[in-house]
Amino acid sequence: MYEAYWKLKEKPFKNTADPRFLCSFPQHSDALMKLTYTVRENMGAAMMTGVFGCGKTFIARTLISSLSENRYAFAYLNYPPVSGVEFLRAVVRTLKYSELPEKKTELLEDALLESLQALLLDDSREGKEAVIVIDEAHSIEDDRIFEKIRLLLNFQTESRFLLSLILVGQPELAGKVANLRQLEQRIAVKCHLEALTVEETRDYVNRRLEVAGRKDPLFPDEVLDLIHQATGGIPRRINHICDACLMTGFARKKEILDEETFRESGKIFGSTVFTPEKS
Ligand SMILES: Nc1ncnc2c1ncn2[C@@H]1O[C@H](COP(=O)(O)OP(=O)(O)OP(=O)(O)O)[C@@H](O)[C@H]1O
Ligand SMILES: [Mg+2]
Repeated sequence: MYEAYWKLKEKPFKNTADPRFLCSFPQHSDALMKLTYTVRENMGAAMMTGVFGCGKTFIARTLISSLSENRYAFAYLNYPPVSGVEFLRAVVRTLKYSELPEKKTELLEDALLESLQALLLDDSREGKEAVIVIDEAHSIEDDRIFEKIRLLLNFQTESRFLLSLILVGQPELAGKVANLRQLEQRIAVKCHLEALTVEETRDYVNRRLEVAGRKDPLFPDEVLDLIHQATGGIPRRINHICDACLMTGFARKKEILDEETFRESGKIFGSTVFTPEKS
């Protein structure tokens, strides 16, 4: 709607995991490096935690798109499974190995585990490994699901894990896993994402505008600092506010997004965008 007015080729602040918009701040590149290491070096399992909206899903998706489909098969579960069977079925289904067994007895946990192991072994002989990402893992309520997750890590040959497992979730995930000693011990790599600093928030906004085609800065530094204050440096919230400012500035025929526009956006978009989000 406002793209042409602001001389943009596309919207700069969409809440999607478009890798062109990735800002590689040290914490994000370190997390990506550690997760890549986990998969490529066959370390077994990793866990990435962080507050809501700080970029976990973005990093996990970036990891997947950076790995070759010839070498890896992916299962990305972006909702918490409600039972062990559902979890295993989702893994088998999303890895697209084969049709699920027709007979009811074969849908039981043990049978699912058995067929999954056989399929992973077949793939391993052909030089392919599975990468299973469980996003929103902090919402898993039933410890028996974590137990199934742990069982998958028993799928090994003499020298290699048959899959890499990446748990992704909000900070309480770390507490849940810490209570499950056997699972905790198997997590070889951990990373944690925090909100952006003031400087990072400035770079974040300017970089996204640049990728979207804007040549000159749009937000003066003092407004970027207000944006940081209002969002706590959470990228998803920064996206909401910047989008609201672009819209308001367009409606008011502004030339830059000054403090007045920022405050005006707050009045127009109100609590949906400008009050702290609850996790
Ligand atoms: N490093 C980054 N570079 C560019 N954009 C980012 C970055 N981190 C986050 N974002 C933006 O913030 C949005 C929200 O991030 P994301 O969905 O990955 O958060 P999350 O940590 O998974 O949150 P939740 O806990 O609510 O699932 C992304 O869609 C993206 O637009
Ligand atoms: Mg997410």
